[in-house]
Amino acid sequence: MEQKNDQPQVPCLPESAPFTPEQRAYLNGFLAGLFSRAPAPAGAVPPAARVETLRPLSILFGSQTGNAENLAKRIAREAGKRGFAPTVHDLSKYPVAQLASEERLLIVTSTYGDGEPPDNAKTFWEFLSSVAAPKLPHTRFSICALGDSNYLKFCGFGKELDTRLESLAAQRAHPRADCDAEFEEPFAKWLNEALSALAETGSAGLPEPMVNTERRAEDRAPGQAVPAYDRNNPFRATLVTNRKLNGPGSQKATRHFEIALDDSQLTYDVGDALGVIPSNCPELVEDILAALRASGDQAAPGRDGVQVALREALLRHYEITKISQPFLQAMAERSGDEPLKKLTAPGVNGELTKFLWGREIIDLLLAHPAVRFSAVEFVCLLKKLQPRLYSISSSPKAHPGQVHLTVNVVRYESLSRKRKGVCSTFLAERVQPNVSVPVFVRKNENFRPPPLGDVPIIMVGPGTGIAPFRAFLQERQAVGATGRVTRWRAPSARCCFLARPSRKSLRSAPAARTRKRVARLAGSRRAFLCLRQRQPHGERCGCGIARNYPNEQGMHG
Ligand SMILES: Cc1cc2nc3c(=O)[nH]c(=O)nc-3n(C[C@H](O)[C@H](O)[C@H](O)COP(=O)(O)OP(=O)(O)OC[C@H]3O[C@@H](n4cnc5c(N)ncnc54)[C@H](O)[C@@H]3O)c2cc1C
Ligand SMILES: Cc1cc2nc3c(=O)[nH]c(=O)nc-3n(C[C@H](O)[C@H](O)[C@H](O)COP(=O)(O)O)c2cc1C
Repeated sequence: MEQKNDQPQVPCLPESAPFTPEQRAYLNGFLAGLFSRAPAPAGAVPPAARVETLRPLSILFGSQTGNAENLAKRIAREAGKRGFAPTVHDLSKYPVAQLASEERLLIVTSTYGDGEPPDNAKTFWEFLSSVAAPKLPHTRFSICALGDSNYLKFCGFGKELDTRLESLAAQRAHPRADCDAEFEEPFAKWLNEALSALAETGSAGLPEPMVNTERRAEDRAPGQAVPAYDRNNPFRATLVTNRKLNGPGSQKATRHFEIALDDSQLTYDVGDALGVIPSNCPELVEDILAALRASGDQAAPGRDGVQVALREALLRHYEITKISQPFLQAMAERSGDEPLKKLTAPGVNGELTKFLWGREIIDLLLAHPAVRFSAVEFVCLLKKLQPRLYSISSSPKAHPGQVHLTVNVVRYESLSRKRKGVCSTFLAERVQPNVSVPVFVRKNENFRPPPLGDVPIIMVGPGTGIAPFRAFLQERQAVGATGRVTRWRAPSARCCFLARPSRKSLRSAPAARTRKRVARLAGSRRAFLCLRQRQPHGERCGCGIARNYPNEQGMHG
């Protein structure tokens, strides 16, 4: 590392270091961030003079399944190029004592449960929403909230955080962005504008290029392995096994899938999830085309704006079951139907949820046959087809080169029509030997078995939520772990408590009973509690958290 004179200088990489200019900017930014926080030696020049060209910037992320974490790293890389000295913090590890001294703060966070923080943000939020939280008059901040508009409390936690920071006298440098499942574009716009806003009072005066919405290989931090496959570039895998797990007469349709990773070099750890990009049911596509009175050959914009045939767009690019808000609005306007109009008015949440339950796009089209849409109009009212995540149910140590899934196939009947979950039936019915399955691995560092093999585990799962625990068991067997394992198929109410062990819920009476039962089951104070979350509507199993409670009073109290 070069030190150019005897005054303390911001350390920077030598020109000969084997990095690209972007990598050098990122690392130099990172070093400057660290350096600016280090205590100054006696007689050193004041910090403002030392960090002449780089503005310290803290980037905090609240993330459950990795989206916000990845975006936080991208913010750091972009900020490094634009004259900031960024430091990225996982909210669960962020030293809250540092908060009052933050001058520039960017937070990217998702929302979970029913408008709640993701697990890694819970302790931070407890602190920030308590009376102990400091006033933050010197902090300029902006928030990028990730969420999913299918939830009533869309971006709920990001919104609460935004309001709370304002009430603590922090100054909003740039308005919050609320990003839906397709977050690339709004994120890139927010990042560009938020960095410009935060740069305004800085001294660097470096040019501020537009943020490119496309991620590039050179955006990655040095030393970070290039993740070859993600949701935008999935690996086309082969489904080698598709087997029903339930016995004859069972009400459930749970299936075991084995997917070959071939020479993809995709790797995973137990606790990770596999993202699967499905295509829609062709029969439903034909029903929709018939209802639209369209041949399917009309040109329509695909998910990336490139024109494709309408049939292809409906098969692979858009969600064609769930009713989106713009589609409902358009149907209400074009049909003139009064009950529909009432449902689109603001503040009718309960009624709307009731109306939408078990109702799909095809039902509205059939109920209002006089309403017409062109191919372009129709697809512009739809949401883009999203990948579904599945907890991986195998250990790579037991099944190298393969990934197993345990999937509950969603099929039900409503309004006298048979319905199919898009992805679970894609895997169960539509993937033929010649059809590949586009997949990617979604890391979940918050959900891992205990590193020590002799530590007992209690595994608590709602509904059919056994998938990741099968992987945990395989992993333990593969490494010869000796610790006792107890799987508790908790009733959902109790599991809700277990899935979100906030301090408040740990003190509640039902929680106390559950704690005692868990402690009895564990038979050990060193028990490692592995939990899975359940989604608010109960229809999906969510991701999990694994926690060690060696000294946690709540476990034994
Ligand atoms: C991290 C993570 C891990 C997961 N792991 C697993 C796993 O291991 N195994 C697994 O099976 N799933 C898992 N899921 C859930 C999975 O991602 C999908 O959500 C699930 O398979 C349904 O997707 P789908 O495309 O088949 O159904 P979709 O097309 O998304 O349809 C589901 C929707 O159908 C509607 N619906 C369902 N039942 C009814 C009904 N009876 N009446 C009316 N409407 C109804 C609901 O609106 C529901 O949202 C996981 C989810 C996450 C986030
Ligand atoms: C179990 C579960 C619950 C969720 N609850 C909400 C919610 O209440 N409000 C919301 O806007 N989004 C909700 N989401 C969507 C996530 O916030 C969104 O997928 C986000 O991109 C995830 O980012 P992360 O990977 O950084 O955690 C939920 C997702 C899951 C899986």
